[in-house]
Amino acid sequence: MKIVAFLCTWCSYAGADLAGTGRNQYPPNVRVIRIPCSGRINPIYIIKALLEGADGVMVSGCHPGDCHYLVGNYYARRRFVVLKKLLTTAGFEPNRVQFTWVSASEGVRFADVIRKVTEKVAAVGPSPIESPPELKSFNQAKKESPCCEANISAFEKQQKQLIPLCKKLLENGTVSTVIGFQAGGEMGMSLPCIIDSPDEVEKLVWNNCCVPNLSGYLNDSPSERKGKIAIIAKPCDARAVISLIKENQLKRDYVYIIGLTCDGMIDGDDKPLPACLDCNVRIPPIYDELIGSQGDGGFDSTRNDEDEASAARNDEPKPDHSFERFVSEMNKCILCYSCRQSCYGCYCNTCFMERGEPDWQTTSPDMGAKMLYHLGRAMHLSGRCVECGACENACASGVDIRYLIKTVTDFIEDTYDYQTGMDLDTEPAMLTYTTDDKEIGFLSLADIDEQDNTGGEADA
Ligand code: FES
Repeated sequence: MKIVAFLCTWCSYAGADLAGTGRNQYPPNVRVIRIPCSGRINPIYIIKALLEGADGVMVSGCHPGDCHYLVGNYYARRRFVVLKKLLTTAGFEPNRVQFTWVSASEGVRFADVIRKVTEKVAAVGPSPIESPPELKSFNQAKKESPCCEANISAFEKQQKQLIPLCKKLLENGTVSTVIGFQAGGEMGMSLPCIIDSPDEVEKLVWNNCCVPNLSGYLNDSPSERKGKIAIIAKPCDARAVISLIKENQLKRDYVYIIGLTCDGMIDGDDKPLPACLDCNVRIPPIYDELIGSQGDGGFDSTRNDEDEASAARNDEPKPDHSFERFVSEMNKCILCYSCRQSCYGCYCNTCFMERGEPDWQTTSPDMGAKMLYHLGRAMHLSGRCVECGACENACASGVDIRYLIKTVTDFIEDTYDYQTGMDLDTEPAMLTYTTDDKEIGFLSLADIDEQDNTGGEADA
């Protein structure tokens, strides 16, 4: 059994040393990697260790409040809680990944922690990566749509207001460009378009096939900007704009947001998009002009989205978070990166998958590379995904990419009371902390004390 232990050099690593000099024995299964601070652990290292066949991974840092860099472990704590949620959603047993705190003076505790971690990892057995489970087909039960009745007249009404507004903004120089939708996509879908002349505004369309999230087109280089850019923004596009502003990828002054109320989009088969079924935001949370309003026909004012969403959650069958499902979804992926390309939040110049240092990527789309990509991307998007569904719409292989990210997004909303892109002021959940954040899924003191009762005897 192999357990990779990432230990902070200022505390747990010194604690391990003390265990050695104090002759406190512990199982020899751990392979220690020394790190400068628990806050410096990239979650991808943990994912990579699991995918390379480690049976377990543990991370140990300074006790909260004692971090050598003051707050590194407070940031790490949230990251670990969310990572554990992500990994359990993908079917990794919770006990395979352990987080804890050990100080430099706690040699005995370090030995106890290792014994407890070893025991817990042994109980869940060898890594599933070493002996992949049989693949099972997975068919997600399609939910009945509460909103698939496309209200065409409402869209037409909004489009009639949209075209003169864009014309006026271009003519009076308020904006230099409008990013919107035009007809002409396959299976009747609308396509993104960029308009910079008032004469072209007639080609703008607004209907229930305007699926892509347009905010990704705003993320260009400042040197290419000629003036303000108007964006036609559904609620999810507007949330993405807020998120980009908060992440310093965009200046609020640079964008003119034409918000449109939205009751959900459909796919090429006239079925409501799964992401729209889960969405409860009908009015863009930010806009300079709003087209459509509650009770305007484009928006069903009789719906109580919160009640509906929670009722739907209660009625839903228990989600399948098994490792078999994860493998089954990964098996469909061909690692084409369409999901990344369509995602507003994937704006890194070089994706972690393509970095030469460290060399994450293999040249072939093998199972390990696919798992690393999807888990790593889900972790990068934790607390940042606006649930627009662009990734799953872009996937030609029908991979259910969203279930990982959505589970984590819901978890962050419930745990840290944070919904991405709803306002410009709230600090993003993963970029902040409180000193009393819950340590959900951490190795508890009770666990270790129970071990202490053994008298610290060696078991290896
Ligand atoms: Fe040890 Fe930050 S220095 S956790």
